[in-house]
Amino acid sequence: MVCLGNICRSPMAQGILEDKIKKYKLKNWEVDSAGTSGWHDGEAPDNRAIKAAKGHGIDISQQVSRKLSKKDFDYYDLILAMDSSNYTEIKRLCPSNESCDKVHLMLNYLHPNSNMAVPDPYYDGKFDEVFKLLDNGIESFIKQTLQKSQSN
Ligand code: 4NP
Repeated sequence: MVCLGNICRSPMAQGILEDKIKKYKLKNWEVDSAGTSGWHDGEAPDNRAIKAAKGHGIDISQQVSRKLSKKDFDYYDLILAMDSSNYTEIKRLCPSNESCDKVHLMLNYLHPNSNMAVPDPYYDGKFDEVFKLLDNGIESFIKQTLQKSQSN
């Protein structure tokens, strides 16, 4: 899960997916989050993101912001961008054709081919709206990924 600062959207996305991995007992699923900027390296998530997640029973307070690294492109099967600016930046950084193919926009799992953004709540404070949007998007992402793995 990748956004710009790795303190608002992608930490909530990580927490939501971790929660669903447990709930749905998804074997061999692993999630992490990172930012394209590295501006908040070493910091905990934004307090407002921690509070929004806590309101839904999810603790993201122990997460630590980090910058997306080259290793992520090898290790992870999918790299999900929160908005098209993150997407473009990740595509600029991906080291091989194979790794570039791993990059997708998060909300295209909810609204196919729409290229919609998960809006950045950092400035307008709409963390709860963003949490709910991510929850819906991640639910669709899981369903589609499971369907795809069953058809392979
Ligand atoms: P995020 O939000 O990309 O969802 O973590 C932001 C966090 C910090 C900044 C911008 C967006 N910033 O400008 O520091």
